[in-house]
Amino acid sequence: MTTRRMLRFGAFLAGTGGNMASWRHPNAIADAAINLDYYRWLTKRAEAAKLDFAFFGDGLYISEKSHPNFLNRFEPLTLLAALAMETTHIGLAATLSTTYSDPYTVARQFASIDHISKGRAGWNIVTSPLEGSALNYSRPEHPEHDLRYRMADEYLEVAKGLWDSWEDDAFVRDKASGQFIDASKMHRLNHQGEFYSVQGPLNISRSPQGRPVLIQAGSSEAGKDFAARQADAVFTGQASLEDGVRFCQDVRQRAARFGRGPEDILIMPGCGPIVGGTMAEAEAKYEEIANLVSIEDALNYLGRYFNDIDFTRYDLDAPFPDLGDFGRNGWESTTDRIKELARAENLTLRQMALRSTTTKHAFIGTPAYIADTMQAWFEAGAADGFMLTGAVLPDALIDFIDHVLPILQKRGLFRTEYEADTLHGNLGLPIPTNHYTMTETVR
Ligand SMILES: Cc1cc2nc3c(=O)[nH]c(=O)nc-3n(C[C@H](O)[C@H](O)[C@H](O)COP(=O)(O)O)c2cc1C
Repeated sequence: MTTRRMLRFGAFLAGTGGNMASWRHPNAIADAAINLDYYRWLTKRAEAAKLDFAFFGDGLYISEKSHPNFLNRFEPLTLLAALAMETTHIGLAATLSTTYSDPYTVARQFASIDHISKGRAGWNIVTSPLEGSALNYSRPEHPEHDLRYRMADEYLEVAKGLWDSWEDDAFVRDKASGQFIDASKMHRLNHQGEFYSVQGPLNISRSPQGRPVLIQAGSSEAGKDFAARQADAVFTGQASLEDGVRFCQDVRQRAARFGRGPEDILIMPGCGPIVGGTMAEAEAKYEEIANLVSIEDALNYLGRYFNDIDFTRYDLDAPFPDLGDFGRNGWESTTDRIKELARAENLTLRQMALRSTTTKHAFIGTPAYIADTMQAWFEAGAADGFMLTGAVLPDALIDFIDHVLPILQKRGLFRTEYEADTLHGNLGLPIPTNHYTMTETVR
């Protein structure tokens, strides 16, 4: 039986880690983002620690300025299929864009991963913030920010409808009578909407979880509304416990308007723990990681949020430039936050670039300090769990698993065994009912 008052942990396995220069760290495996043996080892390590899921991000446009881990990496669903064969309990989640895909294909792909993994799939639904994605997908232009979320909303209605194409007992496969299916248990969606026209049914049966766990990670107004309607779990970046509380309350209030309860959505802020034997040692580790980054790396990292703007045109030591609304069509909430922070603290471009690349967050310290901080966020209602986003991998994750997790387990805040075989089950979320059978029950 799953208890809802336990922390949830996802491990963001982004090659050598989130830091732009992480590949240069002495313990980093420089080709990690395209190294199956590495991902297999790290995912199994996360499973041995009973983490809820491993997560693989994605994007659809690169340039020479991109993060080294983005330049050469696996297509994430292909990677999930490989890792499903190597693991038995850990959830396997990945990003896939609704703006540059078709719901019929994606519903099939995630149903397949859910079957292959026996119910452990998760989908981080993004609308693609990078405007350059249009150039790779034969589109005249990148759809505008809120339009992308409107498309995503209809897309999800289609995907959910397709995942219910077959009732659980629709495949009779009776060799004696020759009956393969019970056609009354097969349902055509016949969707005709503003953006999509999809007849159905899907050519794969309902998967062990009914559908993957649905995750959303945008924090704009449209993003939060979308999460409130569709998501089982929300990833977010929050700088402080107070910001986290505000964000959780905001998303939960929006969800209530769609008839969803507070327990229907798990909110998981990103957190990159840096663990030291003492506070001073943890600080020194942070400095070592921060110092890997050159100012050129930092400007490229920051520039990605602003459509690869060439920040070298600006005076590095003048106040952060006034960019007006520029950037909002891509990463709306992130670019808003950057502009706001630069203004509030009167930061120069150099300071802002270094700050955003080497974020100094609340989770740097001794194992007990990090466990205390996580517990405080959890108990204050700022988080249901955390996305572990290590600046340098594998060290950040291994340190967390070996030193912080045992403390949380001792305090009864994290599991010592998996409670279920499916990702829904381990996250304490009910397995969705097929909406066709629900209607019949109501009738
Ligand atoms: C933990 C975490 C993981 C994310 N992973 C991805 C990703 O893999 N691909 C992506 O395009 N965006 C990713 N994002 C960003 C958001 O999904 C979203 O695209 C971005 O915040 C812009 O949305 P907004 O304008 O609604 O804020 C991630 C965000 C967080 C907090």
